[in-house]
Amino acid sequence: MTGRLDGKVCVVVGAGQQPGPTIGNGRATSMRFAQEGARLLLVDRVGDAVERTRNDVTAANTTTEVATLTVDITADDAPDTIMRTAIETYGRLDVLHNNVGIGAGDAPPHRLADDVFDRIIDVNLRSLWRCCRAAIPQMREQGAGVITNISSIASVAANHIAAYRMSKAGVDALTRNLAVTNAKHGIRVNAILPGLIDTPLGVDSAAAALGIDREVLAERRAATVPMGHQGTAWDVANAALFLASDEAAFVTGVCLPVDGGQSARVG
Ligand SMILES: NC(=O)c1ccc[n+]([C@@H]2O[C@H](COP(=O)([O-])OP(=O)(O)OC[C@H]3O[C@@H](n4cnc5c(N)ncnc54)[C@H](O)[C@@H]3O)[C@@H](O)[C@H]2O)c1
Repeated sequence: MTGRLDGKVCVVVGAGQQPGPTIGNGRATSMRFAQEGARLLLVDRVGDAVERTRNDVTAANTTTEVATLTVDITADDAPDTIMRTAIETYGRLDVLHNNVGIGAGDAPPHRLADDVFDRIIDVNLRSLWRCCRAAIPQMREQGAGVITNISSIASVAANHIAAYRMSKAGVDALTRNLAVTNAKHGIRVNAILPGLIDTPLGVDSAAAALGIDREVLAERRAATVPMGHQGTAWDVANAALFLASDEAAFVTGVCLPVDGGQSARVG
């Protein structure tokens, strides 16, 4: 343990993961934060998933303080409940890491259904924004805080999944907006844009929807990445660790691709 987040209170929203053979972004980030000395509040809609992350976090650092909260972030009172729980448990809030993102049922714009659009925008954008809004007063009072939003390179390059792309483009815009409006209060706000990451969400769910083997899809995805392979959730977690740490003290308003060079093809 090197203590890059020593004592920092970090809230990871979407800290569970879909079951599957690889580790998800939220769980890997929670473990990485714990290894660096963070005190954690792990939040997820699925109780079993967040408890599994708690076990993995404790295995990663047996001295970590870790609390969990099972809540759906689309509920009206969820953002206030999350921030209140963090402050009641630890007395402050240093890092809000927004990992929740969904895309099931998405389609190209000419085939996209109203209810799918509404659900994806509600979870990925509206609820994320409401979580940021709920965290800002405490961070302003402290004169310090970090928010990291998990976007996607789909925000700049994906043409067959309209609602997901629109939601993540909104996350990028919100990130820059929050960064500028809160910079003088000592609050840094950044986004990570993962590319093709080998998680159950990225590979297994998509393979099931396409009716093909995970290995076939994994190979196809890897072939489109300039570096020749998919990333792992640890790549995303390590970027999140940097942005959350004091090493990134002068970094705000950044939308950081973690994508093996894929977005370098755009533009
Ligand atoms: N895997 C990839 O290839 C890839 C690429 C780009 C971006 N991303 C982004 O990474 C993030 C997620 O990665 P992951 O591997 O951790 O995914 P995951 O789906 O395994 O984990 C997300 C967690 O969020 C929880 N969640 C979903 N809806 C919720 C809600 N309404 N309230 C509370 N919790 C909720 C789920 O229960 C799950 O435990 C998403 O934002 C996704 O868009 C992934």
